[in-house]
Amino acid sequence: MQLLDGKKLSIEIKADLKDKIAELKQTRQIVPGLAVILVGSDAASELYVQMKAKACEEVGVYSVVHKMPESVRQEEILETIRMINHNPYLDGLLVQLPLPTQIDKTALLESIAVTKDVDGFHPYNFGRLFAGLETFAPCTPLGVMRLLEANGISVRGLDACVVGASNIVGKPMAALLHNAGATVDLCHIATKEIAAHTRRADLLVVGVGKAGLITKDMVKEGAIVVDIGTNKVDGKLCGDVVFDEVAPRCSFITPVPGGVGPMTIAMLLCNTLKAALSREIHNKNS
Ligand code: GUN
Repeated sequence: MQLLDGKKLSIEIKADLKDKIAELKQTRQIVPGLAVILVGSDAASELYVQMKAKACEEVGVYSVVHKMPESVRQEEILETIRMINHNPYLDGLLVQLPLPTQIDKTALLESIAVTKDVDGFHPYNFGRLFAGLETFAPCTPLGVMRLLEANGISVRGLDACVVGASNIVGKPMAALLHNAGATVDLCHIATKEIAAHTRRADLLVVGVGKAGLITKDMVKEGAIVVDIGTNKVDGKLCGDVVFDEVAPRCSFITPVPGGVGPMTIAMLLCNTLKAALSREIHNKNS
């Protein structure tokens, strides 16, 4: 069994990004810029946004966080998005999820300039992903693809099973795997018997958010297991996979923490650099 070490890979990716960003500044006087909109005071969201801002600083991305109160009106967020859409020095824009219930999430995501949509949540980019076209792919599933690739794993021809069908993780994960040649089962809340699908999988990707969900009897011998879950049990971070009993069956498995988590932020930085590389074209067209 081999560990898929996302922490180590994310450090390597960030070092490479730092060099590329320094070169971009020197050759084209461009400093990539990322804007983050954070609404309310959800502790996990605040922590994620802090981690994103710190990672930006590490690699030389300029970042700005627009913090808005829980009671904010839809129109105020929309106005902030419009302002960022028109700021020529901000290449990427993300709205941290979840949002308070009075906010229409879809309307906000649809108002983000598609060229600045570094989270890949705009339906235009989401559609392009499913059509197999060049786009911004959501950061967590993109991080999984990079982690597999960096460990010499080709998914072409594999039977893959994705458990959890959220717009942020499961659905785009299934699209990326399908586009790369895997045969994908996408399991969701109404799936009759999840184990019947997981047991067939050469590659099992789980992103549900339920500790203890995947046990050894649900995993094929020699499978590659990617755990996207982040749960706290007795104050300790763990995934959706019962690591100790599943790991001995696997050819590869991600640890939690230190697997997919660090890759998500590394991919956000990659997407921000990608947006910045086209800054002049975008600004000319806007
Ligand atoms: N909430 C949980 N994951 C994410 C993410 O990747 N992006 C945003 N914007 N919000 C999230």
